[in-house]
Amino acid sequence: MQRSDQLYAGKAKSVYLTDSPELLILHFRNDTSAFDGQKVAQLDRKGMVNNKFNAFVMRELEKHGIATHFERLLSDDESVVKRLEMIPVECVVRNIATGSICKRLGVEDGIDLDPPTFEFFLKNDPLHDPMINEYHIRSFGWATEDEVKTMIERTFQVNDILKSMFLKSDMLLVDFKLEFGRQDGKLFLGDEFTPDGCRIWDVNTREKLDKDRFRRNLGGVVEAYEEVAQRLGVPLD
Ligand code: TMP
Ligand code: ASP
Repeated sequence: MQRSDQLYAGKAKSVYLTDSPELLILHFRNDTSAFDGQKVAQLDRKGMVNNKFNAFVMRELEKHGIATHFERLLSDDESVVKRLEMIPVECVVRNIATGSICKRLGVEDGIDLDPPTFEFFLKNDPLHDPMINEYHIRSFGWATEDEVKTMIERTFQVNDILKSMFLKSDMLLVDFKLEFGRQDGKLFLGDEFTPDGCRIWDVNTREKLDKDRFRRNLGGVVEAYEEVAQRLGVPLD
């Protein structure tokens, strides 16, 4: 697989064209960012850990029938993925209230949400990813009614699959964010699933094992990601 021109550079990943028009290379960099890019740092090993973590989760989801863009690992910090036309919205499911929902709704941090709740956000850093609803998505043409329905259904399916996967390894999947895209009219899960885009707590101590360690200056960010990977059995070296 030949890596060609850079198509796009995000805050933590870069995307490259390849010799195949339908495939891209995702490069997971050591960069980390929070608060819509206001806080940034370089963390050793993070690109490698996230690349392998993402590959493990995407394969697990595929085994359960979720169509994803993931094709294969290319190197320690690169993966080959399908080229998707991305839908510019973020799909968030929450099993426990924490983070922005507590500030927005004034609800207590740490309460269980039964049933889990769902939110859409517009992917737009300058606007700080505002919350949107499905009428916005349809009216502005970001996705069709069918795609909206499918994104909600798939995100809840992913929640069921991953919540039990994490729990088997003594971790709570608190919340997470997914992004979807289309190829040839079909919807695929795109982007990534790593501790950068979800919250994971130890089931007993409720210790944070995700990017909140970076957001809140708790230290041991990559060490926590590696701990999660090791508990799940993600091969890292
Ligand atoms: P929030 O509490 O900040 O709204 O985030 C909810 C979850 O979604 C959390 O696991 C982080 C993830 N997320 C991202 O990864 N990127 C984003 O831009 C947003 C809005 C959320
Ligand atoms: N991923 C987003 C950012 O960089 C939001 C966050 O994680 O806080 O800024």
